[in-house]
Amino acid sequence: MTIKHIAIIMDGNGRWATLRKRPRTFGHQAGVKTVRSTIKTCVEQGVPNLTLFAFSSENWSRPVKEVQKLMDLFMRSLSKETPELLKQGVQQNFIGNLSRFSPKLQQKMKNVAAMRPEKLNMNLNIAVNYGGKWDVIQAARKLGQDLSSKKITADEVSEGVFNNYMSLADQPAVDLLIRTGGEHRISNFLLWQIAYAEIFFEDVLWPDFNPEELIRVMDQFHSRERRFGKTSEQVNLDAN
Ligand code: IPE
Ligand code: IPE
Ligand code: MG
Repeated sequence: MTIKHIAIIMDGNGRWATLRKRPRTFGHQAGVKTVRSTIKTCVEQGVPNLTLFAFSSENWSRPVKEVQKLMDLFMRSLSKETPELLKQGVQQNFIGNLSRFSPKLQQKMKNVAAMRPEKLNMNLNIAVNYGGKWDVIQAARKLGQDLSSKKITADEVSEGVFNNYMSLADQPAVDLLIRTGGEHRISNFLLWQIAYAEIFFEDVLWPDFNPEELIRVMDQFHSRERRFGKTSEQVNLDAN
């Protein structure tokens, strides 16, 4: 089965830096290199959609200095990486509650998202100030507005219709979710969109996650049987 959508919780930057007796932000800087190599590998492997968790709605609770450094790094990386990404045919999109960012950063994201590659090879969705619960709530709000303005009726609300209000509505559901850094949790990342994703928890810390590891996970994904509720026998019959 081809992989249409990979989502990644990029975790472990802080521990990677602490192990090296360096400040946590050193780990975030090192993490940018992994972001770069991961995107490149996904494009090379023909993955059409990649969603990266860069900053959660809960990450504002970190020390102000770390949050500030993350914002600076994000801003600088957008400027630095975008030309090369466009060359690779990567379209950047931003998901999350963007209104909490500085006007400058909001404008930057707007500009970057408006830049279209000549030939589209991959959608890169960067989740910032994103929370899976927030996503469901913002969808419910928009749906509520359409219900009260009678654009649609309650009876018409199906999974497909609801999905149209969620972030990434125009992209297929996540096939493969990877979390590095050894924790076995979702941390309020995509919820609706990972309903049937194959999940891989990897012990490797994000700055050490290299293309070989990613390809190994993709190979393992291919060896899993995705039954979607059916029996193994049915799945084998369907494949023939
Ligand atoms: C993930 O790495 C990056 C962000 C949340 C921005 P962490 O910073 O969470 O690294 P650890 O989990 O503390 O090692
Ligand atoms: C999840 O990692 C958020 C990102 C990778 C951006 P965290 O490190 O913030 O998650 P917890 O705190 O371990 O759940
Ligand atoms: Mg973490």
